[in-house]
Amino acid sequence: MPKKPTVRKTSARTSPRNIELAPSILSANFAQLAADARAALEGGGTLLHVDVMDGHFVPNITIGPPVVASLRKALPDAILDCHLMIEQPDNFIPAFAEAGANWISVHQEACVHLNRTLNLIASHGCKPAVVINPATPVETLDEVLDIVHHVLVMSVNPGFGGQKFIRGALRKMDALARTRASRGLNFRIEVDGGVALDTVTDVVNAGAELLVAGNAIFGHGDIRENARKLLQAARSATLTKT
Ligand code: DX5
Ligand code: ZN
Repeated sequence: MPKKPTVRKTSARTSPRNIELAPSILSANFAQLAADARAALEGGGTLLHVDVMDGHFVPNITIGPPVVASLRKALPDAILDCHLMIEQPDNFIPAFAEAGANWISVHQEACVHLNRTLNLIASHGCKPAVVINPATPVETLDEVLDIVHHVLVMSVNPGFGGQKFIRGALRKMDALARTRASRGLNFRIEVDGGVALDTVTDVVNAGAELLVAGNAIFGHGDIRENARKLLQAARSATLTKT
């Protein structure tokens, strides 16, 4: 009898995944934003992560729709992944969509009517996503996992780049990957905060597929090279775990 071919056993976390790098422009030089963003994309980034802060939901202020519109104009083909760290996001979703956002994520903690807000994002032609802070249990997302394009797990408290990675986020990514498999869903898992060469293997092994990185790409040295090395480390992590 012919021998059965050996099938490599894979779990929800380790099956072949499309790992993508999302350079976070928060750490770019805003005086030369388009050039920095372009360099990060040339280094292997496939999304541009755009951090929007209002000084209320988080203790910092960053950018609004005009900057998204300028990025859209400078980089017509880039996927703009807009992470809204703002209160009452419903008031601003139309403006970000109009400015050229492709993906819009909102914080679970900021949305009283989360289902409505996610549907609002979709109604404006953008991919809806939900974000959770480090102190928010992943189970709070159970009722929206079937309507989101991705879930963003914060691995720092939102507000600033260059913070230390919070390891508790790993368990949440793992839980999301398991829930996705058991419920037959297909949202993607994104991680944001402290992703760098020393943490990237752990986040990929925990289940993250969309890797946001600011300081590790724009903080020092050559942007293209930093992006290339980080993506390479992420992709080799997928091969190390069986
Ligand atoms: C923090 C932002 C992040 C930030 C990540 O609130 O949401 O996107 O840019 O920066 P790093 O990668 O430097 O931790
Ligand atoms: Zn972010």
